[in-house]
Parts: sequence; C-alpha cells; structure tokens
Amino acid sequence: MNDIYILGIESSCDDTSAAVLRNGVLLSNVTASQDVHKAYGGVVPELASRAHQQNVVPVVDQALKRANIEKEQLSAIAFTRGPGLMGSLLVGVSFAKGLARSLEIPLLDVNHLQGHVMAHFIKESDDDNTAPPLPFLCLLVSGGNSQIVKVNAYNDMQVLGQTIDDAAGEAIDKCSKVMGLGYPGGPIIDRLARQGNPEAYKFSEPNIPGLDYSFSGLKTSFLYNLRDWVKEDPDFVEHHKEDLAASLEHTIVNILMKKLRLAVKQTGIKHVALAGGVSANNGLRNAFHDNAERYGWTIYIPKFSYTTDNAAMIGITGYCKYLDRDFCSIDKPAFSKVTFK
Ligand code: KG4
Repeated sequence: MNDIYILGIESSCDDTSAAVLRNGVLLSNVTASQDVHKAYGGVVPELASRAHQQNVVPVVDQALKRANIEKEQLSAIAFTRGPGLMGSLLVGVSFAKGLARSLEIPLLDVNHLQGHVMAHFIKESDDDNTAPPLPFLCLLVSGGNSQIVKVNAYNDMQVLGQTIDDAAGEAIDKCSKVMGLGYPGGPIIDRLARQGNPEAYKFSEPNIPGLDYSFSGLKTSFLYNLRDWVKEDPDFVEHHKEDLAASLEHTIVNILMKKLRLAVKQTGIKHVALAGGVSANNGLRNAFHDNAERYGWTIYIPKFSYTTDNAAMIGITGYCKYLDRDFCSIDKPAFSKVTFK
C-alpha cells in the first residue's frame, strides 16, 4: 500500500499552523503565533487575517521541509472549516482549496472543536498508544468554548453541556485584562496563582441546571469587587494579584470540575480527557489528578503543544476522514458559528 500523506492547515483564530502526517503519524507541526494582538488586550480580527496571509505560505513550506517531503507526495489536504473568526478561516480555507486543486488531490474539512478533542489521537511514532478508549468524556476548554463532550467515535461526538455565555478562557482573559496584567491572561493568571491563596476571595459561582456552564456572572462579580477594592486602595491589584489570581482560578476550576463530575455520574464513563488551551492550566491539571484519584477516573491530558491551536489535530482528524473516504467538495464554505457538525 502507498503511504498516505496528509497536510493539515489551521487558521481559525490567531495561530497559523501546518502539519504533515504519514499514515496517521505526525512528521511535522509548525505554528506561527501572532504577537501583534498583545498591544490590544485581545485578538483583533482584521489584524489576525492579515497576519495569516503573511504566515500561511512560509508555515506550510516549513512543515513540508521538516517532514522531508515534496508537496507532490501529498495524498490530501485537511483544513479547519470552522468555527472561528471568518477572516482568519478564509485564509486557510482558500489556501487549502487552491493547493488541493493545483495538486489534484482531495480536500478534508475539519471542525475545529472536533480537532481539539482529536488531539488525543495524535501519534508521534508508530507505537504511540496513549489515546483514550471509546467512549470517553472530554472537557473542552479554550478561549472560545467550554464544553463537556461524549466521544463515541472520531465522527460521533455528543455535546452534553456547554457554556451559555462566556467561555472559561475568555473569563480568565477578561479578568486578567481588568487587573491590567496583559494578554493572553491564562498563562499569567496560572503563574501568579501558584504563589497565592485560593481561598483569599470568594467570587460568585453560577447555579445553572444540567451540564451547561456560565462564566459571565463570575466575570461581573470579579469586576465589581475589584472596582470597590481599588476605590479604597489604588494599589490593591499590585498588593494582592497572587491571591486574586489564585482565587479566580480556584473558582473557575471548581465550576468546571463540578459539572464534569456530574457528567461522569450521569454517563457512568470514567475515562475522562481534557482538551483546549485552558487545559495548560496547572490548577485544572491538579484538579484532574485529584478527581482521578478520588473517584477512580482514568485521565488523559494531551501534550501542551497539542492543547492550544495546532494543525496536528486537524491533520489526524483529516486522516480518519481520508480512511473513510469522507472528502469535502471545493464549494463548501467556511463557517464561524460554534457547532460540532
Ligand atoms: O485553545 P486555544 O489556544 O484557542 C482557542 O481555540 O480558543 O485557547 C486559548 C485560551 C486563552 O483564553 C488562554 O488564556 C488560555 O487558553 N490559556 C490558559 C493557559 N494557557 C492558555 N488558561 C489558563 N491557564 C493557562 N496556563
């Protein structure tokens, strides 16, 4: 049998990424991040699409070089079709379509959220066997999403619960911004939280039925409390940033884990995975380990480089679709709205 080479392309937000896989094993994964947004405290869509335009050719070129293959050897191109920022998506989608057409090879459209979950199936070598057994539960937490997903198969994922307003990462980033700590707030809050007292401050926790999440109340309660404290002491943030970060992280992790425990209880599934950018968070990882020990879960946490946006997860999803001959026609447009379909 001929080797199957898949090129994966990811451009849904502010990372331009390309990866090459041979027979489902990762050969290269190259990502160009965009520092331009730091000055604005969040991703500026217009600047993101411009940066993708500049990055996409060199990133794909590097991915092919590191994989040590020529583009003519590719079997198919997998690309993120959505959800994400439309201007960002259009760059990767158009590039993938143009390259596939010129090479006369098939296209594989990948849902970005499905890709995050599929990060668990990325193989760095033939004998890499760390993927969770099916079915498993996956807590998907990123800057744009917070969901509990039941994974029955790579192409059968059921959203059991999701945020009705802000995502967990978005709440962390916004609270970090109001403290004047910089962007993205996640890694900064994580670092500060390690030196603070998680019980120092209490912030409001939502009371939402079922397995859905809500983080906007917490964000508002953080903002109002901070405003009052700063009125009394203008240097309040500087004096208490470690305790503020630790208490904020503690509240968010509590909210996430409470619903996840409920999902385990309701489904009886004890194979539990973590995915998305927020899964880099040390407090959340520790809580995962604690719950695993206490409740007998088997847990799966991907390597850091596969938790944030990357093309390896798009490539592996595309490879599964390739084996099923589930190709995408060139007229399928990008989509921005959150869906698992
Ligand atoms: O998955 P991702 O790279 O992009 C989206 O698809 O949204 O996630 C980015 C999010 C940001 O909100 C960022 O602040 C958060 O992940 N993040 C973290 C950490 N590292 C990144 N949040 C908490 N702790 C971290 N160490």
